[in-house]
Order: sequence, then C-alpha cells, then structure tokens
Amino acid sequence: MKILGVSGSPIPDSNTDRALKRVLQATGAAKTEFIKLSDHTIAPCMACLKCIETNRCIINDDGNKLAEKAYKADALIIAGFTPYSSIDSRTKTFIERLYPLRHRHGLMQGKVGAGIITCAIPPENTELPPACDNGMQAIQNYMLEEGMDFVGGITLRGNVPCVRCGDNGQCPMSGLKMIHGPGATIAEIGIANFADDPAKLQELDELGQNIAKRVMGG
Ligand SMILES: Cc1cc2nc3c(=O)[nH]c(=O)nc-3n(C[C@H](O)[C@H](O)[C@H](O)COP(=O)(O)O)c2cc1C
Repeated sequence: MKILGVSGSPIPDSNTDRALKRVLQATGAAKTEFIKLSDHTIAPCMACLKCIETNRCIINDDGNKLAEKAYKADALIIAGFTPYSSIDSRTKTFIERLYPLRHRHGLMQGKVGAGIITCAIPPENTELPPACDNGMQAIQNYMLEEGMDFVGGITLRGNVPCVRCGDNGQCPMSGLKMIHGPGATIAEIGIANFADDPAKLQELDELGQNIAKRVMGG
C-alpha cells in the first residue's frame, strides 16, 4: 500500500503539514510520502491538450514527476489552505497538472482520495465566505470528476497571517478583527494548533484508518 500526501502550504511545519503527516501515519501504510509543493517548481496547466495522446504534460518542470507519484499511489491525500477564502494556488496548480492522467484512460479512476483544509474563518461566521467549505469543495470536485473514491475531508482552524505580523493591534486591515470583531486581540484569540484538540486528532486518525481500509477493499 502506497499513500501520497501533498501539502500546498508554504508555511514551515504548518497546521496543514502536521495534520497531513498525522493522517499519513494513521494509515499504517508501509510506504507513505509527504510532498510540500513549495519545495517544487510547478506551473499551471496551459490547456494545450498536448497530453491527450501521451498522458504527459509538455511543461518541463516538477509537474510530471508529481503526477507520476499520484498515479503510482494507491491513495492521494490533498491538503490545502485558503488565502482569500479559496483553495491556495499551489494546491490548485497541482490538481490542474494531474489533468494529463485523465485522457482516455482515467488513470486516477477508483483510487482512494481524501482532503484536508485549514482556514481562518470559522464556519459560525456567516458574514464572511465559507473558506473551509470552498477549499474542500475544490479538492472534492477534482476527485469526483476523476472518478476517485473520496473517503472524506477534514477542516481545521488555521491562523490568519496577522498573528505573526507583529502589529501593535491598531492595524485597520487586521484579518483577526475582520473575522473575530473589532475588539479581537491575538492574546484573546490565540494561535490555532489542531493538536490541542483531542477530537480533531481522533478525526485525523480515523481518516487515516478509513483510507487504509478502503485501499484494502473495505
Ligand atoms: C496570505 C494569506 C491569506 C489568507 N487569507 C485567508 C482568508 O481569506 N480566509 C481564511 O479563512 N483564511 C485565510 N488565511 C489563513 C489560511 O487559510 C490558513 O488558515 C493558514 O494559512 C494556516 O496556517 P497555519 O497552518 O500556520 O495555521 C490566509 C493565509 C494567508 C497566508
């Protein structure tokens, strides 16, 4: 059993990365691989359709290597985050570059898939876009359109960049205040870390176990 996990988060050791590693570990698979897209060079699909006959993209970057890894894996877990409340561009680019695997054979068809999304806007805040849902929908759309077996998706609360910017709390563009109200402070909201939440850890472990079961035909 080989499970591939791909993270679109460029932040070192981010919630996105750590959650993905947790799920990979929980699969219990002998072969797992964690890929951080920011360590690779990958351009978006040119829509040239030169991949139709070959199932290979003509762009000479890391995209083909990553698509081959996805093709060789039994399961693919895609983890992204949500700048401006949609899926991040690296994750979207990676998904687009899996398009060559589609033509005439559906090379991802039937493979097990799952998603992880971190976002800063909590679902209870209905005044702002449903960031986590938007991100997860992008992953699910890809897996659905390729005929993959989507086992599940987990959303996690991540941090707005404002918690790291060092502002003295007066910034009129504060994302923290936009999301949590004008009186919100870093001290009050805190730095989100999913590992502080035992229920989330369990959810991640269960996703890993379910992926493994599904790969084994369960
Ligand atoms: C440039 C940037 C813009 C962001 N904009 C949003 C946003 O519009 N909505 C949202 O829910 N989260 C936003 N986030 C937060 C991310 O979705 C995510 O929660 C965070 O990057 C995860 O970081 P962490 O893993 O270090 O917690 C933004 C993050 C960055 C880096």
